[in-house]
Amino acid sequence: MAIDAQAVQEHYGQPALLDAILAALERSGKDIAHLAADDLAPVDEFHTRGRPATVELARLLRLTGGEQVLDLGCGLGGPARHIAQSYGCRVIGLDLTPGFVVVAARLAALTRLDAKVDYRQGDALATPFSDASFDVVWSQNVAMNIADRPRLYAEIHRVLRPNGRYALSDVVARTAGGELHFPVPWAREPRASHLLTDDATRSALERAGFSIVAWEDTTAKARAAAEERAHVIPSPGSLGLHLILGSDWPAISANLLRNYREERIGVIHGVAKRV
Ligand SMILES: C[S@@+](CC[C@H](N)C(=O)[O-])C[C@H]1O[C@@H](n2cnc3c(N)ncnc32)[C@H](O)[C@@H]1O
Repeated sequence: MAIDAQAVQEHYGQPALLDAILAALERSGKDIAHLAADDLAPVDEFHTRGRPATVELARLLRLTGGEQVLDLGCGLGGPARHIAQSYGCRVIGLDLTPGFVVVAARLAALTRLDAKVDYRQGDALATPFSDASFDVVWSQNVAMNIADRPRLYAEIHRVLRPNGRYALSDVVARTAGGELHFPVPWAREPRASHLLTDDATRSALERAGFSIVAWEDTTAKARAAAEERAHVIPSPGSLGLHLILGSDWPAISANLLRNYREERIGVIHGVAKRV
């Protein structure tokens, strides 16, 4: 296995995740037999600012509902389910972490969205899809784990139809400030973290054959959310990202805020068109 892939799977592999999620839902009074996709948002929107960021990115992308979407690095599949439910798109999610794909599929069945979404295990750098098979590729907080951006963007370009669009949210390097404080939500150590600056991200996309059609700096909102969250200590069995990230969640949350405050990181939303 490539070093990147091994580091990613070590970081995200969390045993008994589905059981922990279902137990937390039951504890909060949800009926597992009648789950709604929205019930899962505290845990299955695993990126900066969760569900609100997904809603904003979908608006920036101007989804119309007829699109065939690939969610690269889909995690537990929350964004894919949101897009399928809110817009009617057919969505395939692909993720490197086998346990996440299993949980994503089960959550789709429990929310009765399994006819609209499909989850598969695989590497974003070598996907199993034919050329020009999607109208949209979507990825939220995934490229930060991928060192080989030229290959990632070439693969996205390959699977998009002509004029297809790539919607992305990424934590970006903003620095002067040097090394990050680890652990952070996407990596416990530097070997799993591969941030680029905004400019380097845009240039890598352009070199891969994309034109940038929308670009938003959402750092201020991300920092405000991190400031708010830093004061909240989640109770052990509650529903939240701490179920995925485990016992070092308090350190992860504190470091994230510190990295924002010291302007080591920023967050961008973008849409790039295949030209
Ligand atoms: C922070 S999570 C984001 C999950 C999801 N996009 C979301 O927003 O809820 C990052 C995800 O990227 C996946 N990932 C990292 N590198 C990958 C790769 N090379 N191919 C596919 N998935 C990858 C990880 O397994 C993890 O599920």
